[in-house]
Amino acid sequence: MRAAVVGQGYVGLTGAVALAQQGHRVVGVEQDRERLACLRAGEPPVLEPGLIQQMTAVLRTGRLEFVEDLADAMVADPLDVVMICVGTPPAADGSANLSQVLTAIEEAAELAGAPLVVLKSTVPPGTSDMLLAEYPELRRRFVCNPEFLNQGSALDDWQAPARIVAGAHHPEAVTVLRDLYRSVSCPWVTSTPATAEMIKYASNAFLATKISFANELARMCAAPDLNVDHVVQGVGLDPRIGHALLRPGMGHGASCLPKDTAALFHWAAGQGIPTPLLDATVRTDAQQPAAVLGLLRESVGGRLRELEVAVLGVRHEPWSDDLRSAPSRVLLPLLQEQGAAVRVWDPGLTPDELSHLAPSATAHTALLTAVAGAHAVLVLTEWPQAVEADWADLAARMREPRVVVDAKNCLPPALLHRLPVVYRGIGNRRPAPEPAATEPSANELAAADPVAPQTVV
Ligand SMILES: NC(=O)c1ccc[n+]([C@@H]2O[C@H](COP(=O)([O-])OP(=O)(O)OC[C@H]3O[C@@H](n4cnc5c(N)ncnc54)[C@H](O)[C@@H]3O)[C@@H](O)[C@H]2O)c1
Repeated sequence: MRAAVVGQGYVGLTGAVALAQQGHRVVGVEQDRERLACLRAGEPPVLEPGLIQQMTAVLRTGRLEFVEDLADAMVADPLDVVMICVGTPPAADGSANLSQVLTAIEEAAELAGAPLVVLKSTVPPGTSDMLLAEYPELRRRFVCNPEFLNQGSALDDWQAPARIVAGAHHPEAVTVLRDLYRSVSCPWVTSTPATAEMIKYASNAFLATKISFANELARMCAAPDLNVDHVVQGVGLDPRIGHALLRPGMGHGASCLPKDTAALFHWAAGQGIPTPLLDATVRTDAQQPAAVLGLLRESVGGRLRELEVAVLGVRHEPWSDDLRSAPSRVLLPLLQEQGAAVRVWDPGLTPDELSHLAPSATAHTALLTAVAGAHAVLVLTEWPQAVEADWADLAARMREPRVVVDAKNCLPPALLHRLPVVYRGIGNRRPAPEPAATEPSANELAAADPVAPQTVV
């Protein structure tokens, strides 16, 4: 089939490459001239593992090309499918800004040849029907087909998704979509467009709730005899719950979960539907940067003023360059407001990019120089270079009070607790004491347990 993919960001570019790998002839449409120039030079403008290699391979087959306007995609041959993957960023009030979708649909509706129009962008329930009321000619050939990929495994997710959701008013539209995805094997959910839109928001709201729940658990596991790592491990082993995203840390992060929970919250409020659970999920997440800052402040003895703090990692995840809602964007200014002298290190960003994100921080290209002489270290990204660093050496190079706050719970706790540093994670990560080598005597047991039977002598 011949498909145009409108918008060449994280979703559209990985989708264009995946569809071309599946044998389709694909035209990637990108209006941003800088992004378009990168694409035409064979360089992906977004970071995704394996993307450059797979993009290079499909470009060689001649099945993938890039144009600036959707109308240009029609010049060579007619299109069977137009897939809309444009952004739906948050508006100031938290609602989804649909302006890119409105423009793309208008352009798609004007095309000759009546291609199937597939809406991949994440939009609030009712958006497709609002668009179809405006363009009734699209009604028989429109599918809302939300995307569920994870940044970091986007290409695999395109080839082997957990499910395909197709919201349409006419079965023939779903038939064309099935033809497009014929080489993908997974369960299908067919529904109305509004239900498809809700499935996407509900999925992200549920994932966000899991993260907020893990962070709330971590707050409850502050006591010395509770270890949050063991709690989430034990809870997640239940197949009804699972480990995915059930992990305390810096919160929702990246871009989709914060913007989609905010948009769903806004949509429900507009319908007059109370959402106390979603409200709590969002509020717990909003508190996380301040909670991490509080942990750091408490660990250094109450004041950050004039302390040198090395922030290790600015990205939310090492494998993604998506900084749109990275928690560091909130945390770095808070840290500077408290008077700390901030150093930043992130091997995924150039010193210029680091300086742009944190203008009054000192950018470091080496982990060692960022940490040497610092009073405190704050780990915000699970960079392997930081996780696998020689922490005994780093600790020796730090200045008192030598505090390490691990906001991603990614450093080895048993090692860090043995070093001459104050090590704190999100929730208590102190390992349980090793079991005694010999059986304790009855008197030792009684002494250790105040509620043990008093008959023991
Ligand atoms: N990023 C993710 O992990 C992810 C996952 C699932 C779903 N989504 C959803 O998919 C959609 C796209 O997300 P993204 O992260 O890829 O966005 P993005 O902002 O990275 O990319 C969107 C691209 O569309 C281009 N564009 C906008 N209007 C255009 C037009 N009329 N013609 C040509 N190009 C146009 C923009 O220039 C931009 O490059 C969003 O609705 C998002 O919520 C994203």
